[in-house]
Amino acid sequence: MDVEDVQGDLSSVLLTREQIQAKLAELARRIEADYAGERVLLVGVLKGAVMVMADLIRELRLVDVEMDWMAVSSYGAGTQSSGVVRILKDLDTDLSGRHVLIVEDIIDSGLTLSWLLGNLGSRGAASVKVCALLRKPDAAKVHVAVTYLGFDIPNEFVVGYGLDFAERYRNLTSIGVLAPHVYA
Ligand code: PRP
Repeated sequence: MDVEDVQGDLSSVLLTREQIQAKLAELARRIEADYAGERVLLVGVLKGAVMVMADLIRELRLVDVEMDWMAVSSYGAGTQSSGVVRILKDLDTDLSGRHVLIVEDIIDSGLTLSWLLGNLGSRGAASVKVCALLRKPDAAKVHVAVTYLGFDIPNEFVVGYGLDFAERYRNLTSIGVLAPHVYA
């Protein structure tokens, strides 16, 4: 669905579908150059990263690319990160000797990724890097090294393109700021 379908629920549109796709193409060119001749495993973090993964992997002109998924829980039903990370679904792939690229929709406090980097890094991977579409610098509680970053955004509650509020708005093609009346 598009912005017109949820207009009253957004206080502003942050990134259009076109801006997102252009940025993913830009990141894909860098990833292709960096992983040329290598076999790379993209690890998506459910559920938010589904859209980023789907568009990024199709944009990549690399033959030796695989995809796997993890589900971790770091948030309750509210809008703030609790910092508690739990594995809900683990990878199917053995990471020994693999080049791993974690694909995320958003880095908020950084706690999820910081924990994931430690966890995946301890499984014998040859390398573990991060690609994230969005980052909120003002919400950071821990520093996370991000090799491929789409956009730094303000510390507001954003939805769309995989990002939800109470499981809604993931199917919005753009990314917008949720109007306070929706979650107040
Ligand atoms: C979001 C997002 C990241 C995490 C980032 O997932 O996809 O995984 O929060 O937050 P942090 O930097 O503060 O740790 P969420 O737990 O909302 O699950 P979802 O992807 O299923 O919506």
